[in-house]
Amino acid sequence: MGILSKLFGGKKKTEQETQPIKQPQQVEEPPKKVKVAVVYYSMSGTNYQLAQWAAEGAREAGAEATVFKATELAPQEVIDTVPAWQAHLQATEQVPAAQVDDLVEADAIIFSVPTRFGNMAAQLQQLFDTAGGAWAQGKLANKVVSAMASAQNPHGGQEATILGIYKSMHHWGTIIAAPGYTDPVTFAAGGNPYGTSVSVDQEGNMIEDRAAIEAAVKHQAKRTVMVAGWVKNR
Ligand SMILES: Cc1cc2nc3c(=O)[nH]c(=O)nc-3n(C[C@H](O)[C@H](O)[C@H](O)COP(=O)(O)O)c2cc1C
Repeated sequence: MGILSKLFGGKKKTEQETQPIKQPQQVEEPPKKVKVAVVYYSMSGTNYQLAQWAAEGAREAGAEATVFKATELAPQEVIDTVPAWQAHLQATEQVPAAQVDDLVEADAIIFSVPTRFGNMAAQLQQLFDTAGGAWAQGKLANKVVSAMASAQNPHGGQEATILGIYKSMHHWGTIIAAPGYTDPVTFAAGGNPYGTSVSVDQEGNMIEDRAAIEAAVKHQAKRTVMVAGWVKNR
């Protein structure tokens, strides 16, 4: 027995002491699926199309995505004066109208709205204005949010509309997942880092290259799902 063993005790280790300590078995939990609510308002179909592309992109990223419309507020007699508006409302009758609970239940929300004098359409604002109760209970905090917009003119207020939505999102305590310049598709779609945006002509057709816009929308949706996945599976 060496001097160290003499000083500190050279007791023979029991079998239990020499066995490697067994670690509790670590069970890898599969990542939980992100739930996305795509909420749009549209008068002539542009934002409905953007919303559908966003939902497709979110699903491609493995999320569960539902498209909701913001409830129409315009008086029927006004709608009746615009055949394209009437036709669009009829064509989207089956789309569920967004309720505040749909926002509460979602992990991520993607908004898409037309510009109205530089602001979001009132129909979406109305949904926000009815969300006070959920907001007060903290039920909208930590949602991951992204927004898209359209206007007639290339500089008709798209960025202002998206940033207006994000302004309210700061009040809710959401996490904004803007596309930035995280993928070259954003440049091809006009280079709006706040969110994909489009311009429409008098007939309601997108001026930009549709394929480029679709790619940018899908990238934005996938990025939103990615960030929501980080938050949900933390
Ligand atoms: C009341 C009203 C206000 C509008 N304000 C703007 C505006 O500020 N700038 C602009 O470029 N287009 C403006 N537009 C055009 C719409 O933004 C455009 O028709 C819309 O983006 C098309 O989207 P949608 O097909 O989804 O309805 C306005 C349209 C209406 C009816």
